[in-house]
Amino acid sequence: MDTTRRHILDLHRRGALRGALGLGALAALQPVAGRAQALAFRSYPFTLGVASGDPVADGMVLWTRLAPEPLAPMGGMPHAATEVRWEVAEDARFARVAQSGVELARPETGFSVHAEVAGLAPGRPYFYRFRCGAEVSQVGRTRTAPAADAAPAKLRFVNAGCQHLEHGYFTGWRHIANEADLDFVFHYGDFIYEGRGVQGMEPSWGPAVRSHVGDEIHTLENYRQRYAQYRLDPDLLAAQLAHPFLMVFDDHEVDNDWAGGISEENGGRAFPVAVPPELFALRKQAAFQAWWENMPLRRAVLPRGPEITAYRSLRFGNLARVHLLDTRSWRDDQPCGGNPVVVPACEAVARPDAQMLGPVQEKWLLDRVAEGGATWQVLAQQVTVMRRDLPGGTFNMDKWDGAPAARERLLRGLAERRASNPVILTGDIHNAWVGDLRLNPLDERSPIIASEFVATSITSGGDGSEAVPGQAEILRRNPHIRFANNRRGYSLHEATAQRMTVTHRVLPYVTRAGAAQEDRGVFVVEAGKAGVVQG
Ligand SMILES: [Fe+2]
Repeated sequence: MDTTRRHILDLHRRGALRGALGLGALAALQPVAGRAQALAFRSYPFTLGVASGDPVADGMVLWTRLAPEPLAPMGGMPHAATEVRWEVAEDARFARVAQSGVELARPETGFSVHAEVAGLAPGRPYFYRFRCGAEVSQVGRTRTAPAADAAPAKLRFVNAGCQHLEHGYFTGWRHIANEADLDFVFHYGDFIYEGRGVQGMEPSWGPAVRSHVGDEIHTLENYRQRYAQYRLDPDLLAAQLAHPFLMVFDDHEVDNDWAGGISEENGGRAFPVAVPPELFALRKQAAFQAWWENMPLRRAVLPRGPEITAYRSLRFGNLARVHLLDTRSWRDDQPCGGNPVVVPACEAVARPDAQMLGPVQEKWLLDRVAEGGATWQVLAQQVTVMRRDLPGGTFNMDKWDGAPAARERLLRGLAERRASNPVILTGDIHNAWVGDLRLNPLDERSPIIASEFVATSITSGGDGSEAVPGQAEILRRNPHIRFANNRRGYSLHEATAQRMTVTHRVLPYVTRAGAAQEDRGVFVVEAGKAGVVQG
């Protein structure tokens, strides 16, 4: 029996057990809003698990997606809107139910459920579950954000992402599931990878531990199936059951290195046959719809055609404001034909109107930062902001290094608005980095405006190694970079009114299951004192 099948059967057993222990199947069969609902599933419909996200002081989003046959078209559901009841309780046995309601899982949105819960108490854990017909979902644990005017003693959160299914086991997610008292997990993107399965091929990064189903994904059903394949992973499910998530997307939720309206297949060296923008827009539309369907996101984030407004801001008492950004939708295409590029040999890099956020999002961000109200202004985004002068004097054009004028505008904007302790969270490059951002990165007397913490990948890149290739030269070329590590894992942040402490948690391997985690590099930013120091 393959592991997917065994996992699904295990979920069946757990679901059936919870049903027997819960409030009883009859409660779930009560007619709701005048519609009798007596669905009988041939197999367990909650195979893709449950998740919660975007916590506010009195609620959050609760997510699930009905899929009795997770890899089949439409998850094997009959094509009719289906009532799903949700419950939020103060205790794991659901003796003290705090809120409950009913949502319709509709065929138009892949039978996903996004329940926007309100009316809960701030800054405390809750448990939640869904019911459909006689079936009961897994029980998830979530928590509300502290009240806006509260002064929480500390905030604990994780930065993680880049979970290529073929490159390794999601052991990092299992360890994240076991992290105690997280306020949230920031998922910086690359929740899925869009490429074809490697089955029968010799992958270049090392042994493939499992294979994507099918070819490169392009249609809505392709993307839905890919999300289903990822969501069947038990370690990922454990993390989603344990903590609320703040979700953003990077490139692979759509297409490698896409930029604005331009596909990776842009007519350049690697892909001489370009995909016209009007056709790439159709792919974006499918990709964004599937992303929304599969994530704990509010209805406000629902895409409109090929556009999605996913940037948003969350408040955690007076301790932190977290600004979730989109560095893909309104950025310039990677200049100079992509990577690697020698600067200043390629003059297009220095264009003065370079965009990474686009003017509307950039203004929105700086307006939010100017409101203040928190010790830490956290910019949670995807691609590396700090200058990285790589071996041979090359720069990665997919990152903010491809748009240095946009970086300077951002840093100047933060400085002019006297942003309170700005910290930038990043992912995307599959290794961990820590660095300071000076207004002029080439002048060591230039003021430090922000510090950046780049989390490594959960699996992407395979087992990795202690050092990034060329690390000694990179550190020599970039005195503002304090740390680099090429193991897989995640970053743990702990913020108080005095300091933010960041621990890089790594795994010695991901191509075998069950690695224990080890800490590499602890760094601290003191509130009111710009710059990273060793912890
Ligand atoms: Fe990635």
